[in-house]
Amino acid sequence: MSWIDDKSYAELARVREAREAGVYPYFRPFESGGLRTSVGGHGFVNFSSNDYLGLTSHPRVKEAAHAAVDRYACGLSSSRVQATTVAHVELEARLAKFFGFERALITTTGYQAMVATVMTLADRDTTLALDNLSHACILDGTFLAAGTPGRAPELRFFNHNSARSLERVLKSRERKNALVLVEGIYSLDGDKGQLREIVEVCERHGAALVVDDAHGSGTLGVHGRGVLEDLGLEGRAPVVVSTFSKVFGGIGGIILGATDVVEFIQHTARSFVFSATLPVPIVAAAATVLSMLEEDGPALVAELHDKARYMRENLTARGFDLGASDTHIMPVMVKDERKALVLHHLLYERGLHMVPITYPGVKAGEERLRVNITRGHTREELDHALEVLTELGTMAEIRFRA
Ligand SMILES: Cc1ncc(COP(=O)(O)O)c(C=O)c1O
Repeated sequence: MSWIDDKSYAELARVREAREAGVYPYFRPFESGGLRTSVGGHGFVNFSSNDYLGLTSHPRVKEAAHAAVDRYACGLSSSRVQATTVAHVELEARLAKFFGFERALITTTGYQAMVATVMTLADRDTTLALDNLSHACILDGTFLAAGTPGRAPELRFFNHNSARSLERVLKSRERKNALVLVEGIYSLDGDKGQLREIVEVCERHGAALVVDDAHGSGTLGVHGRGVLEDLGLEGRAPVVVSTFSKVFGGIGGIILGATDVVEFIQHTARSFVFSATLPVPIVAAAATVLSMLEEDGPALVAELHDKARYMRENLTARGFDLGASDTHIMPVMVKDERKALVLHHLLYERGLHMVPITYPGVKAGEERLRVNITRGHTREELDHALEVLTELGTMAEIRFRA
């Protein structure tokens, strides 16, 4: 036994405890895809999925992936530098057009796309300004940049969603360039980025803005072009980073920007250049979801918002605290780790999968259940979820009105 065994054993104390109590909620092995699945024969409806438009399991998407397997197999055995296909290039052109940017680059994950963007654009002439609730991919890209010999940018945080706090950071920065990193929707709280004010501050201080719109692409704006369309800000953020792992039915990252900026990342980013290409069946699936958005985007997005509104109104009327949420991502605040784990377990037994978010995902005392409403949920499923949540929420005393 070496010290790594001792260390791992000690660090896993919380996991062991939850398993022993029979309430460990993570890494459940699903027996099929889609919003309705099972574990060990126990069926449930998934309310923690990011398949916001419910298109991941659409027959058209699956057929496109099947056809691509026949032509390209499941991998190209190399990085994009020497393993790019016409499918990648065509989809990049279509994504750029749909989202209104000069150029798009497809990467293998959204996480990788953000790390690539930050690592390429930030150097010792740069101050990186981060919202203090930034996603791990933004933090990790930043920490890698900060640890790169001879390139380390200045690193500063501003208060969540506060343009005023951002302005203080930009005014007092030590480096000549500034790169500001924000999100379209903050996924643990479900609140939209305050981008109108943030864009103005960036413009006033000559800062470049990168928007991670992983949860807003395909869900916000009339056509689903994301948070910039939703807030009337298209053309005012030079870079958007997004993902195929939510609305686009698979996995993969998207970087959108001006041609030179995107090609600079394409030729420089180590996380992109030294990692394998996105498999073509996944490209084909994403291309099919894009076609559906091009053909029918407004109707798909409107249906998602109708269902989200119905759920929000009912959850709020029944006394649940949804925190700062103003989107289809509606955390049900529990504010107690044990309660969140037990509630998750009881909901799961009743056929509802609502994953608990605990420390370090959120601060201690801010524990919650992840409740994502998607277009794919039926009204009956939403009503069932409301009924069971109300019953169990009353029992656990997490509703603030009787
Ligand atoms: C805000 C945000 N950015 C980036 C990512 C990473 O995307 P991907 O799953 O494609 O790596 C996620 C997904 O968890 C996310 O929530």
